[in-house]
Amino acid sequence: MNAFSSPGRKRSAEEKLNMLVEFGARISCELRLDKLLDIIAQQISTMLDVGRCTVYLTDNNTHELWSKIARGKGLEHTEIRVPLHGSGIISVVARTGKTINLANAYEDPRFSMDVDMVTDFRTRSMLAVPLKNNSGQVLGVFQVANKADGSPFDKHDEGILLLLATLAGSAIEIAKLYQDIHVSQLETIYRLAVTAEYRDQQDTRSHLKNISIISYLLALAMGLSKKEAELIKNASPLHDIGKVALADNILLKPGKLTPEEFEIMKSHTIYGGRILEGAHSKVLQTAHKMSLYHHEKWNGKGYPKGLKGEEIPLEARILTIADVFDALCVFRVYKKAWPTSEAYAYILEESGKSFDPRCVEAFKRIYPSVRKLYAHLSVNQPGYKEEKSEAPSQTQLVPPKTITTPHHKLP
Ligand SMILES: [Fe+2]
Ligand SMILES: [Fe+2]
Repeated sequence: MNAFSSPGRKRSAEEKLNMLVEFGARISCELRLDKLLDIIAQQISTMLDVGRCTVYLTDNNTHELWSKIARGKGLEHTEIRVPLHGSGIISVVARTGKTINLANAYEDPRFSMDVDMVTDFRTRSMLAVPLKNNSGQVLGVFQVANKADGSPFDKHDEGILLLLATLAGSAIEIAKLYQDIHVSQLETIYRLAVTAEYRDQQDTRSHLKNISIISYLLALAMGLSKKEAELIKNASPLHDIGKVALADNILLKPGKLTPEEFEIMKSHTIYGGRILEGAHSKVLQTAHKMSLYHHEKWNGKGYPKGLKGEEIPLEARILTIADVFDALCVFRVYKKAWPTSEAYAYILEESGKSFDPRCVEAFKRIYPSVRKLYAHLSVNQPGYKEEKSEAPSQTQLVPPKTITTPHHKLP
């Protein structure tokens, strides 16, 4: 039987020891902070058999403690925030690093009834212990309330909760560091992508945001796992990183490109491939495929290699649809904004030509969500094209139906 099951009955010392050993093993190999905190809260609730368990973590940016995980009546979707320098129980435990054990919480002036009032819960007994790292720094607070048998928390309960806090402290710190590294990696990628796009697009951020959301939805609709879809989402902003290698007179040229200039423009795919080649991280490996192949076409008429069909990596086939759709829907100095319905029709028309038919079928399924993304764009957008009477502007899109990304101006 799993040591985490059968709450509500007295356990022998040996059973408790086994539970602690199993708990230590489980948390030591869990790097995902959310999952780790869930395991911890589950373990506390089970071992102490309580009606409510809340894990607070310190937020050094806002100088608050906030409940990352709360288990118990009414708390499932409630985020609680308390000031680190406040006078309530949780703040005092975090500041002093000392345990507070109350047989009747409502009799203690430091106890706030606010959470009880909004969650329709009545706290009777309450125990709060500090969560510390190896160097004794407080990372947060574990709080439990109302033992199932109605008795107040005793020294034995305090010992168990402190022991759980000690076991969990370093695991939480490692998971937080891991999460910080992951977030800073994504931030770096994103800012690098903004740098690459910034020279020739004013609305870089919305373009990158839109294509990452559409790519993510499309990947899921294609049956990829959430993890694979997230990789695609996080890598997609880097698809045009190779543009950093293009000279201003090509990238920023207001008029038509000559055939020679267009050949140079096409080389941004090769440069992107070189910049990202040999990357170790999965997200940069995905970005490498996208940057190198995002102008390939299903029918083999794209560039730089003229790959055909499934020779083109799936990541690039997905990104291409997102990139083209967004480019069509927004205003550019050299083209009007297309209504989403027309951009959608264009994607459908290009099925089997520019785009993978399977990806287009998936795009059909996500289109209702995609349309909502663009709901804020309206006829107020500069140059919004109300009727499909003309091909995109004066412009570089010749012939209009063979272009993919309008920022690559055809001669
Ligand atoms: Fe491109
Ligand atoms: Fe793009």
